[in-house]
Amino acid sequence: MAKRTRILAGNWKMNLGPNEALEYFGTIGRELGGKRPAADVRWVIFPPAYALGREVQQAARQAGIEIGAQNVHSEDKGAFTGELSAPVLKSFGIQWCLIGHSERRQYFGETDESAAARFKKAASTGLNVVYCIGERLQERESGQTEEVLTRQLGPFVAALREQIQKPNCPWPQTLSWSIAYEPVWAIGTGKVATNEQAEAAHRHIRKVVQEALGADTAEKLPILYGGSVTPENASGLLGQPNIDGVLVGGASLKPDGFARILASL
Ligand code: PGA
Repeated sequence: MAKRTRILAGNWKMNLGPNEALEYFGTIGRELGGKRPAADVRWVIFPPAYALGREVQQAARQAGIEIGAQNVHSEDKGAFTGELSAPVLKSFGIQWCLIGHSERRQYFGETDESAAARFKKAASTGLNVVYCIGERLQERESGQTEEVLTRQLGPFVAALREQIQKPNCPWPQTLSWSIAYEPVWAIGTGKVATNEQAEAAHRHIRKVVQEALGADTAEKLPILYGGSVTPENASGLLGQPNIDGVLVGGASLKPDGFARILASL
């Protein structure tokens, strides 16, 4: 029995609309042939915001898949054009969100601090979170990977501490909060990290969490790998002791291939 929940997730980014989403969940349901995630595994897809409606939620559920938002704001409501409210997402059935994806950081000015503030809101609203971090190519090449990951984790770990110190904190019993390690140089490039590179980064992330929050919390925190994951390379990555799941971009858009990834655990 694994110590922590494992998560197989797909990030559609700005691809597929509501009708295509309905078709996708029908197809992937047939591909999966009634298979359901094991008790300690979650299947999640992050479609764009306009494909999060109830009809899509239901179609996804029929295939054993949960859906989530790609972004969530740190305030409940207000003058934040284009943003998504955590309590409103929750009120219409959305239970998952991605936070701090590298594309949010690169194109929309997301920072370690703003991402941690969003995490705080999402977590205290009762959403499941996949929190993304990862180094850029020049940071890896100049030997700064661990330093960058440590820096990116700082505000997140502080926000996580605040949540887990609350009485009756629902994590990890009824809520899932996890980290996705996504090296920026591997996202959408076809250049996947080797199993060893990914495992080393995950080990470092767990060590940082352990030093800040203790061994128990570190052992319970799922850490997903993302960046050019395919049906061909997923099982090698998932076989590493510190890799507890995958976050799949491009390859999650094809229901047959993504079904193979979902069926791999
Ligand atoms: P990719 O994207 O699988 O297309 O590299 C991963 C991600 O951005 O989450």
